[in-house]
Amino acid sequence: FGQLSLRPQFLNQYIGQTKIKDEIAVYIQAAKQREESLDHVLLYGPPGLGKTTLATVIANELQVNIKTTTGPAIEKPGDLVAILNELEPGDVLFIDEIHRLPKNVEEILYSAMEDFYIDIIVGQDTTAHPVHFPLPPFTLIGATTRAGMLSAPLRARFGILGHMSYYTETELTAIVKRSAEVFDTQIDDQGAHEIARRSRGTPRIANRLLKRVRDFSQVSQKEMIDKEIVDYALKLLRVDEKGLDDNDRKLLRTMILLYNGGPVGLSTIAANIGEETDTIEDVIEPYLLQIGFIKRTPRGRVVTDAAYQHLGLVRTDK
Ligand code: ADE
Repeated sequence: FGQLSLRPQFLNQYIGQTKIKDEIAVYIQAAKQREESLDHVLLYGPPGLGKTTLATVIANELQVNIKTTTGPAIEKPGDLVAILNELEPGDVLFIDEIHRLPKNVEEILYSAMEDFYIDIIVGQDTTAHPVHFPLPPFTLIGATTRAGMLSAPLRARFGILGHMSYYTETELTAIVKRSAEVFDTQIDDQGAHEIARRSRGTPRIANRLLKRVRDFSQVSQKEMIDKEIVDYALKLLRVDEKGLDDNDRKLLRTMILLYNGGPVGLSTIAANIGEETDTIEDVIEPYLLQIGFIKRTPRGRVVTDAAYQHLGLVRTDK
């Protein structure tokens, strides 16, 4: 306790996502005053933006336990019942990748969320009979990369929706500095800003790059991480000026070289670069869309002029 962890423990240590934080602080205070459980929370947005961290922070602020699981880990209704059965009043149940819950599990969540009970069938054939389980009031926090992937009835049962957005350079700089402090590593302002600028708006990436840069810095016996060592390390890591890595550039190059910049369909791109369509949509594409390197059109994805320029390529059509 009192020790700095890479993951913030409380809202006042959590950097960025100001809109969600300000809102949720009010709902937490109100729920505590009424001695009720916090309403269910859905956090959605690209991977690496701190959804799990925020769920933990919310539980800490509520001073309750958190149970953590993922959608695909809950294979059958009985698995969910076992988890719900262990909750104490007011606890947080965090389900990551909640869009991947099996349908029959999702269906028993409805009454659990709405009225804190579940009805399940116990036994088989002639011994099959319904059992009514009352549950303690609890808070479900669900996380997903895209809210649109949730079924409408499940989405409708979340009272609090939190849209996680990419972090600004200023926020990421603060996160890098905080992490460096946790690592007991010296970093100057320009060094921290350079890592932040090339982290694709994503704390998980910023922290990963910081760790690698710190390795380079340590081995070259530098006292202080500065812009020079960041530039050197990121060059070796093949992270470019915009923070794009090999995967990002492979996707753009494939669209340009094989399809003249598009429009090209998602599954065609996936087949060509050997990635799952989900990985492209949830992990690679969102940041490229954000910085305006690709656009979605009704006929497929297209590469923009800005991306051609960044890659040093020239359009050959027209
Ligand atoms: N580390 C990773 N994400 C963070 C955040 N949002 N605030 C503070 N530290 C973090």
